[in-house]
Amino acid sequence: MAATCRRHFFSLQGEGQGRGNAGVVRVQLLWAVSMCCALLCIQYLPHSISAEPILASSLGFCKTVPVLRGAPLHCCLPAPTRKPIRFKFPTCANGGPPVVRERKPVHVVQNDPEYVRKYNLAYARMKALPDSDPRSFLNQWRVHCSFCNEAFKQRELPGPLGKATGVLLQIHYSWTFLPWHRMYLYYHERILGDLIGDPTFALPFWNWDNQLDPIAGMMPFMFLPNFPVNNSALTDVNRNPNHMPPKILYLGYNGKLEAEGKQNLTDEQIRYENLCVMYNQVVTKISARSFLGGPYVVGTNNTAATVNVAAGETPGESGGMEIVHNVAHEWTGLINNPAHPDNEDMGNFIYAARDPIFYTHHSNVDRLWDVWKTIPDNVTIAGNRQRVDYTSSDFLDSEFTFFDENQDMVIVTIRDSLDSSKLGYKYADVSESDNLWINYEPLPPHKPSEPWNPSHWPAVVPSGNNTIGKVPSSFKLARRAPTKKDLKGKGLKHLNQLQEDIVLEKVRIPHSAYARFDVFLNFPEANRETHLYMSEYVGTFTHLPSGMVDMSASVSHSSVTESDGQFRLFNIRYSVGQALRRLGIADWNTDVVVTIVSKGVRRTNPTIDFYFSDIKQDFQ
Ligand code: C2O
Repeated sequence: MAATCRRHFFSLQGEGQGRGNAGVVRVQLLWAVSMCCALLCIQYLPHSISAEPILASSLGFCKTVPVLRGAPLHCCLPAPTRKPIRFKFPTCANGGPPVVRERKPVHVVQNDPEYVRKYNLAYARMKALPDSDPRSFLNQWRVHCSFCNEAFKQRELPGPLGKATGVLLQIHYSWTFLPWHRMYLYYHERILGDLIGDPTFALPFWNWDNQLDPIAGMMPFMFLPNFPVNNSALTDVNRNPNHMPPKILYLGYNGKLEAEGKQNLTDEQIRYENLCVMYNQVVTKISARSFLGGPYVVGTNNTAATVNVAAGETPGESGGMEIVHNVAHEWTGLINNPAHPDNEDMGNFIYAARDPIFYTHHSNVDRLWDVWKTIPDNVTIAGNRQRVDYTSSDFLDSEFTFFDENQDMVIVTIRDSLDSSKLGYKYADVSESDNLWINYEPLPPHKPSEPWNPSHWPAVVPSGNNTIGKVPSSFKLARRAPTKKDLKGKGLKHLNQLQEDIVLEKVRIPHSAYARFDVFLNFPEANRETHLYMSEYVGTFTHLPSGMVDMSASVSHSSVTESDGQFRLFNIRYSVGQALRRLGIADWNTDVVVTIVSKGVRRTNPTIDFYFSDIKQDFQ
């Protein structure tokens, strides 16, 4: 029976682009009710959230994502010409282990003219493929544009490729972020290699976290005009001319401060802040949840400004890695250029993958996921905890589709993605520079100028409209000790292995807004210009606009009601156990003051406040 329904579904693919509004969904529901047996019908009833894996494909329904500039007016993908196939780990022809592709730092490989020549040739060929070919550069861009801008719908069990639900799909802002981008790159790299007949071809990685090499953090030369080897397929005009070499990527970057002329750090200061940002976004994030992001289960609509927690929905929750990766996007795109209000290309998820730099940036993000698993604990009280991915089936059995080098649509699961060595690639060792942020020690805490009393600051009003204002906002947070209950489902034995987190709950952020919040503990003096290399700094949140700024009206032609879709809700997690001990707080009952410094939105937006429902202590 299920197979029959599935076949019916396949015959629908390609249809319904830009349709599929609630009415159509209801008609389909009625159809399903009358056509299918009672057992099957259960799957069509209004979906209540259960811990079911996200099933994602580019089949069928595709919502038009409005695109401001350039020819392609949608980012829907071509339908597969053959039946989708299941992922298999790569092997070499005789069935043995695959040829290993070694991904090397771009600041190293760009010195090899032969590599640059091949790399450029691969992209030139990819760009020359026709639009009907899913391997074409335009379609590679569309993969990102569509899965990252809610063009498709989540699907239901049973797999593979169950029926579409009524809920849009978004692979950012949750635990799908790292696995999905890993497999996206995996196929992108295989297609490039195939186009030049080189099975060892590997993407380079933009090693922007490297503060040891003077050029590693610069926009990689091999993507820039005037490179001595022909690189015409690698350039892109939509990059920030103010961030060209010798500028290095600043992970504390804020477009608004820059526009105000207040971001005048020396390279040395930038490097220290970069180490501290990496330390707080990667090293202190010891739990899968804090590093990879929060759960994303079928039925969760994280494009909406309401979250039905009772039904098991969770707001979007980006992991530490995703958040720091957003900064590189923002810094590379055309921010603060009034002619380009959408920060394209890299600074907006709609356009980001039009820039070949995107793939080398994500190669580093992917590398850092592997590095994260090897970092010794050093942040919990026990000090002996391993960093491991989620192990639940709703994570492992999440399912995506990509087109491979043979133009086949392949169904992959997160389970397939977790071990990069099984995928036939590895990263060159850059542990010397990794160790600089892994072993980073922030500056000693400030001495308070007056006697310190957290109760001078207001507590949040639970479920109230608490404001993250244009000026820094400080709140008192009452703490508690972890209990056995906090260990539940975490695979840990001792309370001392838990990391203490502080979570800002249900932060409301407009889809089209750039937002950045830096958080400090017990330092209410913190302001937009406070340095990030100090003990009181505990991390960053960055939200990139994922929608159009000046074309929001055109969203209304989309087939899903956007009335409450102009905002997303986020939980924002800061991992603070180590910082508290650094600040001399070793017990569980000392209250703290949490200061949220909103760095403001970019110049072209109005200055706005953000609202959130609560600040909570949490143990992971
Ligand atoms: Cu899907 Cu770097 O973004």
